[in-house]
Amino acid sequence: QTGSVLAGKRVVITAGPTREPIDPVRYISNHSSGKMGYALAEAAARAGAVVVLVSGPVTLPVPRGVEMRPVQTATDMLAAASQAVDEGCDIFIATAAVADYRPKATAGDKIKKNSEAMALELVRNPDTLATIAARPDAPFTVGFAAETRDVERYATDKMQRKKLDMIVANDVSVPGLGFNSDQNAVSVFWPEGRADIGPASKQAIAGRLVALIAQHCEQGVNE
Ligand code: PMT
Repeated sequence: QTGSVLAGKRVVITAGPTREPIDPVRYISNHSSGKMGYALAEAAARAGAVVVLVSGPVTLPVPRGVEMRPVQTATDMLAAASQAVDEGCDIFIATAAVADYRPKATAGDKIKKNSEAMALELVRNPDTLATIAARPDAPFTVGFAAETRDVERYATDKMQRKKLDMIVANDVSVPGLGFNSDQNAVSVFWPEGRADIGPASKQAIAGRLVALIAQHCEQGVNE
Protein backbone atom coordinates (compact mmCIF):
# COMPACT_ATOMS: atom_id res chain seq x y z
CA GLN A 1 0.00 0.00 0.00
CA THR A 2 3.06 2.23 0.11
CA GLY A 3 2.99 2.67 -3.72
CA SER A 4 6.23 4.18 -4.95
CA VAL A 5 6.60 6.79 -2.22
CA LEU A 6 10.37 6.24 -2.11
CA ALA A 7 11.00 6.11 -5.88
CA GLY A 8 14.42 7.55 -6.65
CA LYS A 9 15.52 7.59 -2.99
CA ARG A 10 18.62 5.85 -1.71
CA VAL A 11 18.08 4.21 1.67
CA VAL A 12 20.74 2.72 3.97
CA ILE A 13 19.52 0.49 6.84
CA THR A 14 21.49 -1.18 9.64
CA ALA A 15 20.05 -4.40 11.07
CA GLY A 16 20.76 -7.29 13.41
CA PRO A 17 23.17 -7.62 16.30
CA THR A 18 26.92 -7.08 16.30
CA ARG A 19 29.41 -9.64 17.60
CA GLU A 20 32.40 -8.44 19.58
CA PRO A 21 35.06 -11.17 19.78
CA ILE A 22 36.57 -12.20 23.13
CA ASP A 23 38.76 -14.96 21.68
CA PRO A 24 38.56 -17.12 18.52
CA VAL A 25 35.47 -19.00 19.80
CA ARG A 26 33.57 -16.51 21.99
CA TYR A 27 31.87 -13.16 21.56
CA ILE A 28 29.58 -10.59 23.19
CA SER A 29 26.26 -10.09 21.39
CA ASN A 30 22.50 -9.72 21.96
CA HIS A 31 19.13 -11.20 20.96
CA SER A 32 18.45 -9.11 17.83
CA SER A 33 17.22 -11.35 14.99
CA GLY A 34 17.35 -8.67 12.28
CA LYS A 35 13.62 -9.14 11.57
CA MET A 36 12.68 -5.47 12.06
CA GLY A 37 15.51 -4.19 9.85
CA TYR A 38 14.94 -6.78 7.11
CA ALA A 39 11.19 -5.98 7.09
CA LEU A 40 12.04 -2.28 6.67
CA ALA A 41 14.50 -3.04 3.86
CA GLU A 42 11.81 -5.06 2.08
CA ALA A 43 9.19 -2.32 2.56
CA ALA A 44 11.57 0.42 1.35
CA ALA A 45 12.54 -1.60 -1.75
CA ARG A 46 8.87 -2.26 -2.46
CA ALA A 47 8.25 1.49 -2.20
CA GLY A 48 10.77 2.05 -5.00
CA ALA A 49 13.97 2.87 -3.08
CA VAL A 50 17.49 1.65 -3.82
CA VAL A 51 18.29 -0.14 -0.54
CA VAL A 52 21.63 -1.06 1.04
CA LEU A 53 21.24 -3.23 4.14
CA VAL A 54 24.27 -3.27 6.46
CA SER A 55 23.62 -6.41 8.46
CA GLY A 56 25.12 -8.11 11.47
CA PRO A 57 25.03 -11.94 11.56
CA VAL A 58 21.42 -13.14 11.18
CA THR A 59 19.74 -16.13 9.52
CA LEU A 60 17.19 -14.29 7.37
CA PRO A 61 16.93 -14.32 3.56
CA VAL A 62 17.91 -11.05 1.89
CA PRO A 63 14.74 -9.34 0.55
CA ARG A 64 14.39 -9.17 -3.22
CA GLY A 65 16.07 -6.14 -4.77
CA VAL A 66 18.05 -5.29 -1.61
CA GLU A 67 21.86 -5.17 -1.52
CA MET A 68 23.08 -6.73 1.75
CA ARG A 69 26.56 -5.97 3.10
CA PRO A 70 27.48 -8.30 5.99
CA VAL A 71 29.38 -7.09 9.07
CA GLN A 72 30.38 -8.62 12.40
CA THR A 73 31.46 -5.90 14.84
CA ALA A 74 30.28 -2.37 15.66
CA THR A 75 33.52 -1.06 14.16
CA ASP A 76 32.78 -2.93 10.89
CA MET A 77 29.21 -1.58 10.96
CA LEU A 78 30.40 2.02 11.19
CA ALA A 79 32.83 1.51 8.29
CA ALA A 80 30.25 -0.21 6.05
CA ALA A 81 27.48 2.30 6.84
CA SER A 82 29.80 5.29 6.28
CA GLN A 83 30.89 3.82 2.93
CA ALA A 84 27.25 3.27 1.90
CA VAL A 85 26.34 6.85 2.87
CA ASP A 86 29.40 8.15 0.94
CA GLU A 87 27.99 6.41 -2.15
CA GLY A 88 24.78 8.48 -1.82
CA CYS A 89 22.02 8.29 0.77
CA ASP A 90 18.76 10.20 1.26
CA ILE A 91 17.45 8.24 4.25
CA PHE A 92 19.44 6.40 6.95
CA ILE A 93 17.59 4.03 9.30
CA ALA A 94 19.40 2.39 12.24
CA THR A 95 17.53 -0.68 13.50
CA ALA A 96 20.66 -2.59 14.52
CA ALA A 97 21.19 -3.56 18.14
CA VAL A 98 24.85 -2.57 18.34
CA ALA A 99 26.99 -3.74 21.26
CA ASP A 100 27.83 -0.60 23.22
CA TYR A 101 31.16 -2.08 24.41
CA ARG A 102 33.76 -4.51 23.03
CA PRO A 103 36.58 -6.37 24.75
CA LYS A 104 39.64 -4.10 24.93
CA ALA A 105 41.74 -6.92 23.49
CA THR A 106 40.80 -10.07 21.59
CA ALA A 107 42.83 -13.09 22.73
CA GLY A 108 44.65 -14.80 19.87
CA ASP A 109 44.07 -18.24 21.41
CA LYS A 110 41.08 -19.72 23.22
CA ILE A 111 41.06 -18.47 26.82
CA LYS A 112 41.56 -21.39 29.30
CA LYS A 113 39.61 -21.69 32.53
CA ASN A 114 42.58 -21.46 34.86
CA SER A 115 41.03 -19.41 37.66
CA GLU A 116 37.73 -19.21 39.58
CA ALA A 117 37.03 -15.67 38.37
CA MET A 118 38.09 -13.54 35.48
CA ALA A 119 37.54 -9.92 34.46
CA LEU A 120 37.04 -8.71 30.93
CA GLU A 121 38.02 -5.12 30.23
CA LEU A 122 35.55 -3.43 27.86
CA VAL A 123 35.87 -0.23 25.84
CA ARG A 124 33.14 1.89 24.20
CA ASN A 125 32.19 1.13 20.61
CA PRO A 126 31.71 3.83 17.97
CA ASP A 127 28.10 4.96 17.45
CA THR A 128 27.13 4.53 13.79
CA LEU A 129 23.83 6.42 14.06
CA ALA A 130 25.32 9.45 15.87
CA THR A 131 28.26 9.54 13.43
CA ILE A 132 26.00 9.56 10.35
CA ALA A 133 23.61 12.13 11.91
CA ALA A 134 26.56 14.47 12.67
CA ARG A 135 27.82 14.55 9.07
CA PRO A 136 27.46 17.91 7.31
CA ASP A 137 25.77 16.00 4.47
CA ALA A 138 23.57 14.00 6.85
CA PRO A 139 20.65 12.19 5.22
CA PHE A 140 17.16 12.15 6.81
CA THR A 141 18.12 10.08 9.85
CA VAL A 142 15.89 7.66 11.75
CA GLY A 143 17.01 5.94 14.97
CA PHE A 144 15.45 3.13 16.96
CA ALA A 145 15.33 2.99 20.74
CA ALA A 146 14.91 -0.20 22.75
CA GLU A 147 13.83 0.78 26.23
CA THR A 148 12.31 -1.04 29.17
CA ARG A 149 10.87 2.02 31.00
CA ASP A 150 10.11 5.74 30.49
CA VAL A 151 10.06 4.97 26.76
CA GLU A 152 8.90 8.42 25.61
CA ARG A 153 11.34 10.38 27.76
CA TYR A 154 14.40 8.29 26.84
CA ALA A 155 13.45 8.17 23.14
CA THR A 156 12.89 11.90 22.70
CA ASP A 157 16.05 12.60 24.68
CA LYS A 158 17.99 10.25 22.35
CA MET A 159 16.50 12.00 19.29
CA GLN A 160 17.73 15.39 20.50
CA ARG A 161 21.12 14.17 21.70
CA LYS A 162 21.92 12.26 18.50
CA LYS A 163 20.35 15.02 16.28
CA LEU A 164 17.86 12.66 14.62
CA ASP A 165 14.91 13.56 12.38
CA MET A 166 12.80 10.73 13.77
CA ILE A 167 13.03 8.03 16.45
CA VAL A 168 11.12 4.75 16.69
CA ALA A 169 10.77 3.52 20.26
CA ASN A 170 9.97 -0.07 21.17
CA ASP A 171 9.08 -1.06 24.70
CA VAL A 172 11.16 -4.23 24.92
CA SER A 173 9.79 -5.03 28.39
CA VAL A 174 6.57 -6.42 26.81
CA PRO A 175 6.87 -10.21 26.25
CA GLY A 176 6.45 -11.26 22.61
CA LEU A 177 7.36 -7.84 21.19
CA GLY A 178 10.65 -6.23 20.14
CA PHE A 179 13.75 -8.42 20.17
CA ASN A 180 13.66 -11.71 18.24
CA SER A 181 9.87 -11.80 17.80
CA ASP A 182 7.58 -11.50 14.77
CA GLN A 183 5.46 -8.76 16.33
CA ASN A 184 6.30 -5.28 17.50
CA ALA A 185 4.58 -2.17 18.85
CA VAL A 186 6.29 1.16 18.41
CA SER A 187 5.87 4.83 19.21
CA VAL A 188 7.39 7.12 16.60
CA PHE A 189 8.52 10.62 17.56
CA TRP A 190 9.61 13.52 15.36
CA PRO A 191 10.12 17.14 16.40
CA GLU A 192 6.43 18.13 15.96
CA GLY A 193 4.52 14.93 16.52
CA ARG A 194 4.14 11.28 17.34
CA ALA A 195 2.39 8.16 16.06
CA ASP A 196 1.71 4.85 17.77
CA ILE A 197 1.78 1.75 15.58
CA GLY A 198 0.86 -1.82 16.53
CA PRO A 199 0.95 -4.32 18.07
CA ALA A 200 1.27 -5.72 14.56
CA SER A 201 3.63 -7.85 12.50
CA LYS A 202 7.05 -6.33 11.82
CA GLN A 203 6.10 -6.31 8.10
CA ALA A 204 2.96 -4.24 8.78
CA ILE A 205 4.90 -1.88 11.06
CA ALA A 206 7.62 -1.52 8.42
CA GLY A 207 5.02 -0.52 5.79
CA ARG A 208 3.59 2.17 8.08
CA LEU A 209 7.07 3.42 8.98
CA VAL A 210 8.09 3.72 5.32
CA ALA A 211 4.96 5.79 4.64
CA LEU A 212 5.68 8.09 7.64
CA ILE A 213 9.35 8.48 6.69
CA ALA A 214 8.47 9.26 3.06
CA GLN A 215 5.98 11.90 4.20
CA HIS A 216 8.46 13.60 6.55
CA CYS A 217 11.56 13.47 4.39
CA GLU A 218 9.52 15.03 1.56
CA GLN A 219 8.57 17.86 3.92
CA GLY A 220 12.32 18.41 4.35
CA VAL A 221 12.21 18.36 8.16
CA ASN A 222 15.99 18.30 8.02
CA GLU A 223 16.38 21.32 5.74
O1 PMT B 1 16.25 -7.49 15.26
P1 PMT B 1 14.90 -7.80 15.87
O2 PMT B 1 14.91 -9.11 16.62
O3 PMT B 1 13.79 -7.70 14.87
O4 PMT B 1 14.61 -6.70 17.00
C1 PMT B 1 14.42 -5.36 16.64
C2 PMT B 1 15.05 -4.41 17.65
C3 PMT B 1 14.31 -4.49 18.97
C4 PMT B 1 16.54 -4.74 17.85
C5 PMT B 1 14.91 -2.99 16.99
O5 PMT B 1 13.56 -2.70 16.79
C6 PMT B 1 15.53 -1.90 17.88
O6 PMT B 1 14.92 -1.37 18.79
N1 PMT B 1 16.81 -1.54 17.59
C7 PMT B 1 17.59 -0.62 18.41
C8 PMT B 1 18.09 -1.40 19.57
C9 PMT B 1 19.02 -0.66 20.47
O7 PMT B 1 19.86 -1.31 21.01
O8 PMT B 1 18.89 0.63 20.62
P2 PMT B 1 19.90 1.57 21.45
O9 PMT B 1 19.04 2.32 22.37
O10 PMT B 1 21.08 0.86 22.01
O11 PMT B 1 20.50 2.49 20.29
C10 PMT B 1 19.82 3.64 19.80
C11 PMT B 1 20.05 3.81 18.33
O12 PMT B 1 21.46 4.04 18.06
C12 PMT B 1 19.66 2.62 17.47
O13 PMT B 1 19.11 3.15 16.26
C13 PMT B 1 20.98 1.90 17.21
O14 PMT B 1 20.97 1.20 15.96
C14 PMT B 1 21.96 3.08 17.17
N2 PMT B 1 23.34 2.73 17.64
C15 PMT B 1 23.55 2.43 18.95
C16 PMT B 1 24.82 2.16 19.40
C17 PMT B 1 25.90 2.19 18.48
N3 PMT B 1 27.15 1.93 18.88
N4 PMT B 1 25.67 2.46 17.19
C18 PMT B 1 24.41 2.74 16.73
O15 PMT B 1 24.21 3.01 15.53
